[in-house]
Amino acid sequence: MGNNILIKFIKDHKFSYIIGIIFMLLASYIQTLFPKVLGYTIDILQTNGFNPKSVYINLVYIVLIAIGTFVCTYAWRNLVIGNSRRLECHFREKLFDHFQKLSPEFYNRRKTGDLIAYAINDINAVRMTFGPATSMAINGMVVCVISIYSMANTINWKLTLLSLLPVPFIICIMFYIGNIVKKHFRKVQETFAAISDRVQENITGIRVIKAYVQEDGEVKKFQKLNDQMLEANLNMVRVSAYLAPLIELCFTISFVLNLIWGGNMVLNGSISLGGFIAFNGYLAMILAPVLSIGQVITIFQRGMASLDRLNEIFNVKPHVKDGESRAEFPAQSTIIITELSFSYPGSDSEALSNINLVIPTGKTLGIIGKTGSGKTTLVNLLLKMYNVEPNKIAFNEIDINDFKLDALRNGFGFVPQDNFLFNASIAENIKFFKNIYSEEEVVNAARNSCVYQNIMDLPDEFETILGERGVNISGGQKQRISIARALIKNPEILVFDDALSAVDTVTEAEILKNLRKVRKNKTSIIVAHRISAVMEADEIIVLEKGKISERGTHLELLEKEGLYHEIYKFQFGAS
Ligand SMILES: Nc1ncnc2c1ncn2[C@@H]1O[C@H](COP(=O)(O)OP(=O)(O)OP(=O)(O)O)[C@@H](O)[C@H]1O
Ligand SMILES: [Mg+2]
Repeated sequence: MGNNILIKFIKDHKFSYIIGIIFMLLASYIQTLFPKVLGYTIDILQTNGFNPKSVYINLVYIVLIAIGTFVCTYAWRNLVIGNSRRLECHFREKLFDHFQKLSPEFYNRRKTGDLIAYAINDINAVRMTFGPATSMAINGMVVCVISIYSMANTINWKLTLLSLLPVPFIICIMFYIGNIVKKHFRKVQETFAAISDRVQENITGIRVIKAYVQEDGEVKKFQKLNDQMLEANLNMVRVSAYLAPLIELCFTISFVLNLIWGGNMVLNGSISLGGFIAFNGYLAMILAPVLSIGQVITIFQRGMASLDRLNEIFNVKPHVKDGESRAEFPAQSTIIITELSFSYPGSDSEALSNINLVIPTGKTLGIIGKTGSGKTTLVNLLLKMYNVEPNKIAFNEIDINDFKLDALRNGFGFVPQDNFLFNASIAENIKFFKNIYSEEEVVNAARNSCVYQNIMDLPDEFETILGERGVNISGGQKQRISIARALIKNPEILVFDDALSAVDTVTEAEILKNLRKVRKNKTSIIVAHRISAVMEADEIIVLEKGKISERGTHLELLEKEGLYHEIYKFQFGAS
């Protein structure tokens, strides 16, 4: 998948790549003219009674070579390096898009910091490969081929071969070292991911850390990871540090051999001084690309390691399968749950077992039960946050799996147990960045969730920017803003997963009263721990270890004298 993205991008941008590469070839070619012109000029200067005009012409050539190299290099860098930046942007967009599609289960398993590392480091490594490294490689090859050819042409093949004797060794060394670097780089990326994860988790949990005076402990844990990263980096440097000096050493040998033999040839007059200088100019010209082969190989190795990592992520399929046939959620739908059992992926115990339930349209269902009894699991399955087996959940007799996921979820207004506010204004949080709602609707939603007055007391009212995760307002206010977000949708089915847990009983009663008004003919599901939140519901189910242990209206359940009655007695202090 990652490879496909890459190939498609290159295909889509083939013209700019081709033109860029043509300019690159031109730039490399023009560059290699320099030693030749320099050699000519020196030979002219050496002849007795030379014509100054021919020296001037050669000087003009040198200036033209510089200008030509400048123009062509500018053009190819803009095209090829520009494309690598576009590739980076494109890749990141695709990755983000992919992240949006993956199921909650994926995020249960993966660490946030790790995922951030993919989006930043790995994509950057891929960019480096398909931009700077590729161009260095092409440029290097052209310069080498032309230089070697010119060396042989200006002097002879023997001296050329002798001077280039160390090159094959250099290349072998570089491949060998490059391979080791690749392994170390993977380790570096992994430790980076661990560090970014640590930082992310630490910042998110900073309030808990402070409350438990764990700052020093956190710093120690961080130091350990940081040391690991240093170690991984040093391991890489220890190997890669060999590259440049080894190559320079080899080249020094080249120059020595060449000076001995070539110098003799100049002395005995078999070649001109200008020719010898041109020859050395070419040899020096080869030095740069050969030196950069090391860098190119390292960047390529890193890029490939990162592309492998990205491929692994791109190959993760969304766990929850999208339905195909239904693009609309039915209005006035009755929810029918038949023999529904569910285990979380990777767990052998059932979080829900054999649930049978009918929620007629327009009715309110209350769900009550001890913690861990399966309440959240049940409502999450209604929104198909996990795969649901066929014929277990239906809306108006249409199986849940027939719906397109977005159609299904658009039918719901969901206030999750761990509600989340974005770092944006309150109004934007309620509208959820959709501009389809009027100001009046926003105000009404806030009034119905009993948070209007709180908002009006804030300095910028609805325009108050909430800090990250809504940290600058109280827990109860946060929860009620989340309720307003669900109410403004006026959804077919409203689901509160313990959404009244952080409000006082008086406000709870008021919100419930408002709900009865605005949800008159629409279905609502209220999960709660407090009896007071569900007692007015048309039907209440009591969940115990994933099973429905009791069901009925408030009065019926009280008569049964089961768990519901027990909770009631405990909460109301009466029998
Ligand atoms: N992502 C998960 N992976 C594996 N098991 C899970 C996962 N989420 C919940 N469980 C397990 O499923 C069972 C039901 O959990 P659930 O969250 O539905 O309980 P709950 O009734 O909503 O509890 P609470 O009142 O505390 O919110 C629990 O035993 C829990 O350990
Ligand atoms: Mg829950």
